[in-house]
This record gives sequence, C-alpha cells and structure tokens, in this order.
Amino acid sequence: MKLQILRMLIDNQGEWISGENLSQKAGVTRSCIWKYVRSLKQEGYVIESTPSKGYRLMDTQDTLSREELLIELSKSKMISDVVHLKTTSTTNGYARDLDRSDLLVIAEEQTGGKGRMGRTWISPSGQGVWMTVSLKPSIAPSGAALITQIAAASVWEAIRDLTGLQAGIKWPNDILLGQKKICGILTEMQAELGAIDKLLVGIGVNVNIEAFPTELELIATSLYKETGKRWSRKELLLLILKYFEKHYKVFESTGDVKKVMDLCREHSTLLGKPIKIINGNKEEYGLAIALGDRGELMVKKENGEIVPIISGEVSVRENLFC
Ligand code: BTN
Repeated sequence: MKLQILRMLIDNQGEWISGENLSQKAGVTRSCIWKYVRSLKQEGYVIESTPSKGYRLMDTQDTLSREELLIELSKSKMISDVVHLKTTSTTNGYARDLDRSDLLVIAEEQTGGKGRMGRTWISPSGQGVWMTVSLKPSIAPSGAALITQIAAASVWEAIRDLTGLQAGIKWPNDILLGQKKICGILTEMQAELGAIDKLLVGIGVNVNIEAFPTELELIATSLYKETGKRWSRKELLLLILKYFEKHYKVFESTGDVKKVMDLCREHSTLLGKPIKIINGNKEEYGLAIALGDRGELMVKKENGEIVPIISGEVSVRENLFC
C-alpha cells in the first residue's frame, strides 16, 4: 500500500495531490494515507502537506529507499528484492548471511566496510553507493573473476553517463579518476562442487564525500571532489545496475564478455606500463601488455616470458623490473 501511495506521489512529483484523491485511488481512509505519508517522510522523502491542498512530493533525488528502488527495479530479471539498511557493518557480510540471492543490499553507511586484501573501506553515511549484488549465476566458479570485470565496466559506463567523466579502469577492480580511486569492487564467492552457491559483488563508489582522512587524501577521490557538484546516488546506482544486468545476462547465457573486456582494455590504466604484482607473499615485476578475453592480465617478465595473471594487487612502477 505504501508503495502504491509513493508511486502516485512520484507520478505527480512537484504537484499537489489531494488526500481525498489519494484515498479514493488507494481505497483506504484519509487517516491511513496520512500515516503512510508520515512513514515515507521518516524514510527521508520530502513531502509537503497542507489540509487544503493535500500532499506534494518534493525532491527525491538523493533518497534511497527499498520501496522506490523496488519500483525502479521492477523490470529487472536479475534483482527480485532490495534490502536497504541505515547502517551495517558490511553489505557483503549482510548479503552473505541471508539465505537467498538475486537481491540488492544497499546501506547508507557501513561501519566495517571491507576492501580487498583485508583493507577497510570507509563508507560515511549518505555519501556514497555502498552496495552488494547477491547472485546465484549458472556459471562455473572459474568465471567469477569475469563478474568483477563486468562490474568495473558497468561502473565506468554509469559514471560516464551521469557525469560525462571518463574514468580509468585499473585491473582487476578499481575505477580511478586521475590517479585516485573513486570506486572499488570486492567480489566474494561461496561455491560447492564446481557450482556457485552465492556470488557477492560488493561495489563502493565515493559519490559526495567532501574530505577523506589524511592517509587516503592522495589515493582516494569522490565525484564531488572531482566536479565540485553533488550527484544523485540513486541515479548512479540505477545506471550501474542497468549496465551490470545487461552485461551479466549476455555473459550468463552465452559466456561472451567481449564488449566488457574491450571497454576494460580501452580504459585500462595499466596496459603498456611497468607494474608490480603482489600475490600473497610473492612480488613480481613486468610489463602489462594485454588483457585477455577471460579477464586475465598478460604480463611480460624480465626473461621475456609472457604469463597470465588472474588475481593480485597491481601497482604501476616508474621502471621496469624494480
Ligand atoms: C577494494 O577496492 O578494495 C574493494 C572495496 C569494496 C567496497 C565495497 S562497499 C560495498 C561492499 N561492502 C563492503 O564491505 N565492501 C564492498
């Protein structure tokens, strides 16, 4: 019912709609309408109300709510439910503990946001997109790394559509503006006997963060810091999901990720550069020469050998082999 009332308010956004009109269309009393509107206001919707004119939905630009996201995602074949949390430790952890998949978990704030390699991911309230898409793809576990590439390409396309900015994609999971990180992706998997039980694609985008802790200032940025403007988290996340679903469906049904990999290649911040790769305790140096169609980074080592790297922490070096 609340969803139906929200839909009517959204359809008439910025216009007055009388309580009488709402109550007739929804088939509930005017006092019921008032209670639902109060609950929507508590969720952050700015709804003006006067006894003579009724209700008017003002700006919904940067409000995230389960109801509204469900409306926006009603045509999605990938996401059938949305969990919206005011605060959580980590959306990946929250999604992992649920006994279902094919859903979106999104939080206003994460108190224990996780990055790769055991790092933390700062996630201040209302200033970014902190979300996990929980899936059960019918692909072999070995294909999971490609989902990270799909997510990276989707975030790249979403940032371009929303802001016009052309970001860089740093294999395997970072999106950069200039040299600084604007988005990180943490893909985690639960698999058994060669089949994926749950794939958690955690995406963090720094949208309206004004200032970072000193230790991150030189390596992290936000859309706000890059443009001096605030951006709608809702629009950004819907764009990310639009592209993600498009690429994911093609990949799941045909195994094809060519378009995604072309985009990752075209906007790669590593190709042609000397790099260091850290994998566990192992450090390797080489020249990043190509990105393969299975998401692997091809690296030419000092002895001329060319090796595929499927995971690791990569940094660009000034010089080759040191
Ligand atoms: C990285 O760059 O190291 C990956 C960062 C991933 C951050 C996102 S925010 C939403 C999801 N929940 C988490 O705890 N982490 C991911």
